[in-house]
Amino acid sequence: MKNLLNITTLVLCVCLSFGCTDGAQKRKSGEVSFHIIQASSLFPSSSSSCVLSPRASNAKSSLLVVHRHGPCSSLSSKKAKTSPNHDDVLRLDQARVKSIHSKLSKKLTAQYRVSQSRLSTDLEARDGSILGSGNYIVTVGIGTPKHNLSLVFDTGSDLTWTQCQPCGGNGTCYPQEEPIFNSSSSSSYSNIPCSSQVCDSLTSQGYYKNCSASSCIYGTVYGDSSFTSGFFAKEKFTLNSDVFDGLNFGCGEINQGLFYGAAGLLGLGRGTFSFPSQTAMNYSCIFSYCLPSSSDYTGHLTFGSSGGLSNSVKYTPISKVRDTASFYGLDIVGITVAGKELEIPLTVFSTPGAIIDSGTVITRLPPKAYAALRTAFKENMSNYTSTMGRSILDTCYDFTGLETVEIPKVAFSFEGGTVVKVDSQGILYAFDVSQVCLAFAGNGDDGDVAIFGNVQQKTLQVVYDGAGGRVGFAPDGCM
Ligand SMILES: *[C@@H]1O[C@H](CO)[C@@H](O)[C@H](O)[C@H]1NC(C)=O
Ligand SMILES: *[C@@H]1O[C@H](CO)[C@@H](O)[C@H](O)[C@H]1NC(C)=O
Ligand SMILES: *[C@@H]1O[C@H](CO)[C@@H](O)[C@H](O)[C@H]1NC(C)=O
Ligand SMILES: *[C@@H]1O[C@H](CO)[C@@H](O)[C@H](O)[C@H]1NC(C)=O
Ligand SMILES: *[C@@H]1O[C@H](CO)[C@@H](O)[C@H](O)[C@H]1NC(C)=O
Ligand SMILES: *[C@@H]1O[C@H](CO)[C@@H](O)[C@H](O)[C@H]1NC(C)=O
Ligand SMILES: *[C@@H]1O[C@H](CO)[C@@H](O)[C@H](O)[C@H]1NC(C)=O
Repeated sequence: MKNLLNITTLVLCVCLSFGCTDGAQKRKSGEVSFHIIQASSLFPSSSSSCVLSPRASNAKSSLLVVHRHGPCSSLSSKKAKTSPNHDDVLRLDQARVKSIHSKLSKKLTAQYRVSQSRLSTDLEARDGSILGSGNYIVTVGIGTPKHNLSLVFDTGSDLTWTQCQPCGGNGTCYPQEEPIFNSSSSSSYSNIPCSSQVCDSLTSQGYYKNCSASSCIYGTVYGDSSFTSGFFAKEKFTLNSDVFDGLNFGCGEINQGLFYGAAGLLGLGRGTFSFPSQTAMNYSCIFSYCLPSSSDYTGHLTFGSSGGLSNSVKYTPISKVRDTASFYGLDIVGITVAGKELEIPLTVFSTPGAIIDSGTVITRLPPKAYAALRTAFKENMSNYTSTMGRSILDTCYDFTGLETVEIPKVAFSFEGGTVVKVDSQGILYAFDVSQVCLAFAGNGDDGDVAIFGNVQQKTLQVVYDGAGGRVGFAPDGCM
């Protein structure tokens, strides 16, 4: 029923969006249109000290955000210590993007509706998002007594879950650094019965449901064959000093995936099971985060609006151009490079639509938009030595021997006149000094949704206001 409605809305809105006005702002005269950066700043320092962001400690509903592989991560002691292989990160990123594209493609939406009405579970295997590439984690307290567990946070999915004992009994778990949660020793834990309405709604929310026993069993398979399955349950969650009793979550006894030692996932999507939806009374579906410029620093994830939203946040409405399921949709209307607006017809953006995603690393653009960005970037970088592309990145430079480099500024314009200037750390992806690449990629198809990824979100305060129907951005969000 819900999906049928969404399809109707989708069709209506696609038609309407052709009449949208271009909200892009013109270049401001006098403003410097390039960044001068130290070549060394493109790489994490070799020091093992972590620099705390001052903002994180301000609000009681604020959590530290750390990069999984840096000195700030408590997971970096053993298993996660090995720094990620860049090729693996980008390969997993491409798998996540592929699964987002198939989830959001119209063809699959149609199949999905059919499968839901037949209660088939086949389709779930192609549904959902890959988790291995999401690089940022927070620590949340679960149960009574409280267990601190490190969870990957994900704006692209809803259900929060952690690995649960007994693993290795009839279940299996992947290696995690912290002790695995044991629901039998938590006094606030309870299974959700199959007779409960919330168990029923698993299916409509896109999850697999098994009610062959009296307790509700959930399951979901992510794009890369990562999966989690176990008891759909209620438990106490503690975020810094805010305590919530009886939140629905997944107590996963059968889990597999490349989670680099994290204990599970914190779902921040728009669906009814997500953490923001379940705490709507308290935080009004508002949360914000800042992803640090490098793994040597912390960022923050803050719930509610009392945690110090910047005065300079500029909002853009959550897009209604297409049904974006759990994702937060955005309408990109323009891109500027070195202060010049690229000539990209608005329909190049409005036809596929766009989302913002905390778990996608590299921003994906419609092919024509990426081509225009690449051309302008290359032109401006013409006095640097270009080198071979790598993985999904095709515009790379050799900065060997250079102390500083000048790179053109890149800014995105969103519906409503909101201009987001990408930080100097959000334009390039550095494999090593001899191979530093433009950190954007083109989609394979004009109809694939564009994705505003996490490299480009670095150091911004990104505000998700689900109830207000808008997403906001401000500079210097980690300060
Ligand atoms: C859990 O984390 C909080 C905040 O980081 C800390 O104050 C507390 O001591 C930790 N509790 C345990 C049991 O480790
Ligand atoms: C989980 O807790 C229960 C009750 O305290 C205990 O009997 C059981 O051995 C624990 N399981 C594991 C795997 O630690
Ligand atoms: C449901 O779970 C039971 C075990 O609890 C399992 O034997 C059965 O195969 C599952 N059914 C499906 C359709 O996965
Ligand atoms: C594990 O097996 C026990 C009994 O052997 C069963 O009650 C329980 O539902 C199973 N757990 C899952 C997650 O399938
Ligand atoms: C959340 O809101 C409910 C209803 O207003 C209130 O009873 C509860 O104490 C609040 N919880 C927190 C952690 O603020
Ligand atoms: C790149 O753009 C900046 C700002 O417009 C300009 O100052 C610089 O000369 C350009 N460099 C090249 C090589 O075109
Ligand atoms: C590239 O051109 C800029 C001016 O547009 C200059 O400042 C910079 O030194 C040049 N870089 C190289 C490697 O020649």
